[in-house]
Amino acid sequence: MAEVLTTLPALAAILPALAANGSPVLLRGRGTPIDGGRRMPDGRPVLGPGKTWEGLALGTLNGAALAALFSALLGDPRILPAGTIAAIGALLGDVAAAFIKRRIGLPRGAPAPILDQLDFYSGALAALALAGYLVPLPLAAALAPVIPLLHRATNMAAYRLGLKNVPW
Ligand code: CTP
Ligand code: MG
Repeated sequence: MAEVLTTLPALAAILPALAANGSPVLLRGRGTPIDGGRRMPDGRPVLGPGKTWEGLALGTLNGAALAALFSALLGDPRILPAGTIAAIGALLGDVAAAFIKRRIGLPRGAPAPILDQLDFYSGALAALALAGYLVPLPLAAALAPVIPLLHRATNMAAYRLGLKNVPW
């Protein structure tokens, strides 16, 4: 049964998705590409070397850890599964966006405005909805313009720290 989360649990479920999305960059570009270096008939990589299994694993672990923390802090057992699902959804949304970027000919790391900032957020909301946790529409909409700003700020920080080659 689907249930609509109130604001606080919804935020507690979404924050792990942000943490998950920001985690793979900590690998500093190491890792095993998900696509195994394979290319599509268009001659371009399926996903490219920027999407790795280790990135998915680290993002899921960090997201789940944060979800466990929020679950305990709020005394709400739904947050652990919901936050973990949001984290996985975010990582898959990012993978889906990489697939789209490669198909339109953008190489790894090339900026794709809007797609880069909202891929993981849409992935998180979609995964939550599929699992039966609905984020209230006004909250989802209110956060949409905030997410790219956060994304921008954390990517800039990762760039300054030398974790990322480009600030987006
Ligand atoms: N990363 C990873 N595994 C993932 C996602 C990201 O290892 N599933 C790492 C890669 O080193 C990647 C970095 O985190 O370069 C930053 O992620 P992101 O900005 O999403 O990738 P881009 O380099 O921009 O590549 P793409 O154009 O394919 O999105
Ligand atoms: Mg990127």
